[in-house]
Amino acid sequence: MTDAAQKLVGPLTFTALTGRPVATDPYTNETGVHVEHIRLADFADVVVIAPATGNVIGKLANGIADDVLTSTLLAVTCPVIVAPAMNVRMWEHPAVRRNVATLREFGYEIVEPDAGFLACGDVGKGRLAPPEQILARVRARLAASDRKRS
Ligand SMILES: Cc1cc2nc3c(=O)[nH]c(=O)nc-3n(C[C@H](O)[C@H](O)[C@H](O)COP(=O)(O)O)c2cc1C
Repeated sequence: MTDAAQKLVGPLTFTALTGRPVATDPYTNETGVHVEHIRLADFADVVVIAPATGNVIGKLANGIADDVLTSTLLAVTCPVIVAPAMNVRMWEHPAVRRNVATLREFGYEIVEPDAGFLACGDVGKGRLAPPEQILARVRARLAASDRKRS
């Protein structure tokens, strides 16, 4: 989780829901032996960023790695699925349009946001895609990776 994500939802909530540790800081880790973002990158079969902010999309498009999430992303070789969520004006900003296009060039799969009422009260495209839709894309990617391996 990024620092901003932790201001909205505490990491303990995710630990309780998943029964797994939550990585928040690239300079600490579970074992004290491994470099956490490289360990996570090696371990991953697929990476899903949901919700992906305009900020993180901008960082990834430019190779910035200044937290545990973006550092891990620079080190992964597995499929990456990005599900953006933001205000409609942010989604339509030319910088975000360009950054999303760059992520597609990297081979990242983008799960387009839905249109409708947004948390800020505006109406437009920017709502996180339904979780079932994101999960279906994850399953499809994992099935494709399994087919490649066999
Ligand atoms: C209540 C609240 C909700 C926010 N929701 C979003 C959002 O849905 N999408 C987005 O791109 N930014 C949103 N922001 C702005 C981000 O928190 C801000 O850009 C932050 O720097 C993102 O950091 P991160 O990408 O490292 O998580 C929100 C901010 C606040 C205060």
